[in-house]
Amino acid sequence: MGRDTARQAWDERYSARDYVWTVEANQFVEAELSDLAPGEAIDLGAGEGRNAVWLALRGWKVTAVDFSPVGLEKAARLAADNDVSIEIVEADATTYRPQGLVDLVAVSYLQLPPDGRRAVLEHAKTWLRPGGTVFVIAHDRRNISDGYGGPSSPEVCYSVDETVAALDGLEIEIAEVVGRTVTTESGEQTALDTLVKATLPAA
Ligand SMILES: C[S@@+](CC[C@H](N)C(=O)[O-])C[C@H]1O[C@@H](n2cnc3c(N)ncnc32)[C@H](O)[C@@H]1O
Repeated sequence: MGRDTARQAWDERYSARDYVWTVEANQFVEAELSDLAPGEAIDLGAGEGRNAVWLALRGWKVTAVDFSPVGLEKAARLAADNDVSIEIVEADATTYRPQGLVDLVAVSYLQLPPDGRRAVLEHAKTWLRPGGTVFVIAHDRRNISDGYGGPSSPEVCYSVDETVAALDGLEIEIAEVVGRTVTTESGEQTALDTLVKATLPAA
């Protein structure tokens, strides 16, 4: 699928309902980023803004980047509803460049083909101030055979090893496949996610 087609598909998906995802932050974002001192953050592929708004509520200055204007409109609305402000940037995550260094780059379920995935992670690690963090949570490739939901194409799924390799040069704090409980009509299911948290050592 080309970028324009992918963007249109996301716009349509975000137009169809109120919030496609929950407005609560992802559980691993909450668990692993709560202890970080607020600074400047980029949420790459921010969608409807659930993680960006959670960070902003904790005092982070957040730039929410996504190529879907419809998703970003909802992110801006979610921020306003929570009385916080976030900077909204409509851009392709694979070519976006921030104006300066930041303390956190969050990448949450930005399921891209291998080249895009690698570009995003290799760029993200160069945007960090010393002590800064790249945080990745995404559908793991193993989810296709052993987990619930998520993309059915292995091409757009992550693996821990590949994510760690792309973040070469950072100190890896967490690198694992984690289970996420999903409540469905037929009971609880487990989705498998790649979780990687990596830090640029302080000088
Ligand atoms: C599954 S959603 C996740 C949204 C959000 N990170 C979250 O966890 O709720 C994936 C998001 O990535 C965005 N996206 C996909 N490919 C992109 C690209 N090349 N550049 C920018 N955004 C992209 C989509 O528009 C969508 O909002």
